[in-house]
Amino acid sequence: MNIVILAAGQGKRMRSDLPKVLHPIAGKPMLAHVIDTARALHAAKICVVYGHGGEQVRTAFDAPDLAWALQEPQSGTGHAVMQALPHLDAVPPAPTLVLYGDVPLIRAATLRRLIEAAADGKLALLTAYLDDPRGYGRIVRVDGNVVRIVEEKDADDAERLIREINTGILVAPGAALARWLPNLGNRNAQGEYYLTDIVALAVAEGMEIVTAHPGANWEADGINSKAQLARLERIHQRNNAAALMEHGVTLADPARLDVRGELICGRDVFIDVNCVFEGRVVLGDGVRINANCVIQDAVVGAGSIIGPFARLRPGTVLAEDVHIGNFVEVKNSTIAAHSKANHLAYIGDATVGSRVNVGAGTITCNYDGANKHRTVIEDDVFIGSDTQLVAPVTVGRGATLGAGTTLTKDAPPDALTISRRQQVSLTGWKRPVKQKKA
Ligand code: UD1
Ligand code: CA
Repeated sequence: MNIVILAAGQGKRMRSDLPKVLHPIAGKPMLAHVIDTARALHAAKICVVYGHGGEQVRTAFDAPDLAWALQEPQSGTGHAVMQALPHLDAVPPAPTLVLYGDVPLIRAATLRRLIEAAADGKLALLTAYLDDPRGYGRIVRVDGNVVRIVEEKDADDAERLIREINTGILVAPGAALARWLPNLGNRNAQGEYYLTDIVALAVAEGMEIVTAHPGANWEADGINSKAQLARLERIHQRNNAAALMEHGVTLADPARLDVRGELICGRDVFIDVNCVFEGRVVLGDGVRINANCVIQDAVVGAGSIIGPFARLRPGTVLAEDVHIGNFVEVKNSTIAAHSKANHLAYIGDATVGSRVNVGAGTITCNYDGANKHRTVIEDDVFIGSDTQLVAPVTVGRGATLGAGTTLTKDAPPDALTISRRQQVSLTGWKRPVKQKKA
């Protein structure tokens, strides 16, 4: 099988300098969703037709398994598929699946049903029944058989009442496509070469035309505006939340969760409201994520408690029973079992041992303006509040750092290290007073 992904359209209604297909759904360009789904179908060739946004689109995705066909100018969906033909596997019976780069939530299971329906050289259309079919091409049937597709702009009043619409996604026999596409005309309301006109050509040849339908209509929804982008984002997130709950995760509110990547959860994980997960995040058994956390490319060990208002950045690896509290940021650091940083801290480029207590206001000064340096905090260390650890620096096992310490040299094990100057009290001192106006 061959797959053609149409992604040359401009997307004027997005009102953006970013090419439409690069706008993200769940943190990933919408075209990436379509490419991933295409890959799941194990096609012989995947060809992306690009045009608007040109090289920017191509460089965002270049991969050895993708072919690229430039469509310039963009003269319609039929013209677009024609640009892909030279890039497809020419083995004669190979069917070609046409996908849209701006229809990101189409599911592989739906496409497999469409491909099955197209078996033995049939033309298969993915169609849907909509209460409001406005804007879509309509499926015209006679005695139940599909005879053609008419675009909204070319339709008469009776045709506009048809509720069965063309999603645009179809499977056509490769050889027939190569035969039909050069024969398309552009005498229509938009002056474009319509891919949909192949239906009438198939009928004229006596080819059987079959239809399949998406499991849910949102699968076939395209994105033309920011409002539609936001709507599909929510649908995608609702699906993410449903899958997590199915897996046993407790969500305080499935409508207030954003997963922009892969979230892997153990048993009895609880996630409170307004948490954002980015990249690949692994949460062990019994982890509790309190409200308003942002967690990216991190591993959280079993029984750990995160947040509220915590931020775990890439490279954070927490062992079991670690507590990361409010306004604590952790980056590129490992923290061993039973350690706690409960309030207002920055732990960056650090290796933290077990049973360490990181006091409120502790900061690893990991950056000197040019280079990043590591901080090592060994087991059973107690770090007093408002401490700065100027890396590279090591705090030995069992050491205590007094509150307010600015640590610039290694702290030996088991000792109290403190850099504050001795406290003094000046008894004769007077607080300045405001002069009263006369
Ligand atoms: C098309 C279908 C219509 C269907 C609708 C579903 C045609 C003639 N009409 O309409 O029946 O109901 O999709 O959304 O096919 N594209 C290119 N090059 C072009 C034109 C479009 O690559 O020259 C791409 C776009 O980037 C987009 C897709 O094809 O991904 C569909 O284009 P769009 O203009 O949205 O299609 P419609 O005219 O709305
Ligand atoms: Ca169009």
